[in-house]
Amino acid sequence: MTGDAVWLPYAALKGADQLEVVGTQGSIITLADGRRLIDGIASWWTACHGYNHPHIRQAVERQLAAFPHVMFGGLGHAPAWRLADTGRTRCLAFKGAYHGDTFATMAVCDPEEGMHSLFAAHLAKHDIIGLPTEPLSTAAFHAHLAAHAQNLAAILVEPLVQGAGGMIFHAPAVLRVLREAADRYGLPLIFDEIFTGFGRTGTMFACEQAGVAPDIITLSKALTGGTMALAATVANRKIVDAFWSDDPKRALMHGPTYMANPLACSAANASLDLFESDPRLSQVAAISAQLKAELEPFRNLPNVCDVRVMGAIGVVQLDSIDDLPALKSRLLAQNIWVRPFRDIIYLTPAFTITETELTHLTSGVRRVVADDKK
Ligand SMILES: Cc1ncc(COP(=O)(O)O)c(C=O)c1O
Repeated sequence: MTGDAVWLPYAALKGADQLEVVGTQGSIITLADGRRLIDGIASWWTACHGYNHPHIRQAVERQLAAFPHVMFGGLGHAPAWRLADTGRTRCLAFKGAYHGDTFATMAVCDPEEGMHSLFAAHLAKHDIIGLPTEPLSTAAFHAHLAAHAQNLAAILVEPLVQGAGGMIFHAPAVLRVLREAADRYGLPLIFDEIFTGFGRTGTMFACEQAGVAPDIITLSKALTGGTMALAATVANRKIVDAFWSDDPKRALMHGPTYMANPLACSAANASLDLFESDPRLSQVAAISAQLKAELEPFRNLPNVCDVRVMGAIGVVQLDSIDDLPALKSRLLAQNIWVRPFRDIIYLTPAFTITETELTHLTSGVRRVVADDKK
């Protein structure tokens, strides 16, 4: 059996390689040819507890035995209720942003740096400006709001780290600038914590580091510990009150077929249990310290222009990557699974990765980077 008939994400139809996976455990991906790769990116940052965590598997198996799915229109169930318990026309979004590949979310990604230029003519228009990170961009941000706030529905940002846009970090103070501006102009502030949520930046949610809360937070990826597809949009009282009505015009007129899938909700509840029972944030702190110690010396390599670490995110930025496929093959030859893109190699491992596995990752990346421009 081969995967020849599938079109891979972010790849041309012709000639893209796909490695056949036959098993996963912890931070290890086992391939059909017997190779065992150390996963440096936890399946796009989802598998934060490592693969096949028994607590999540058992929760999903229990739910599977009870019922795998019922429609969420008119019917409900405990896994969704438990998960929910815990807990104008234009948007202002930012250069470098990535919020997803659906039409609505493509429209709020960076139009130039993003990967959606082919769709540009079909996307809704939003205001995409620079993040207020320094005096000039902060002045431009305030000027933009003063001129256009009356057309805006919300301000939307990935807090602290713009992930797929290039793993670009910004200071917590930026989020305070956004919060103050949103309050001043009466705009809802949306934090997309799909990448940063659930410990990835060192705190359970990135916004905690700024001491500000959004009005709406979007969550996914590590929500189920990488087990099932599920997203959640969580709103504060202010937003809820605005919809608290029996007027059908204020109803939620969206109902994806598998909304609140009980298996996915069970996986999410089990994943949240693990954040309570296991020392995930201390593990993130240890990974962070190790990444800093092991990546920092990369600065001395001739083609490295930046090294940055936040929580369990480590980024090595190169002057350029001339031959991405060749770089990927050399990384794979070290038995490590990472997905460099544009000019960066990044690590976002599972929080349960061992010290030895992480060292294997960083030293493999170092060998490849050191050989790159020889
Ligand atoms: C910050 C952020 N928002 C949204 C998304 C899109 O999530 P999904 O692929 O589940 O639509 C991603 C995926 O990488 C992301 O990193």
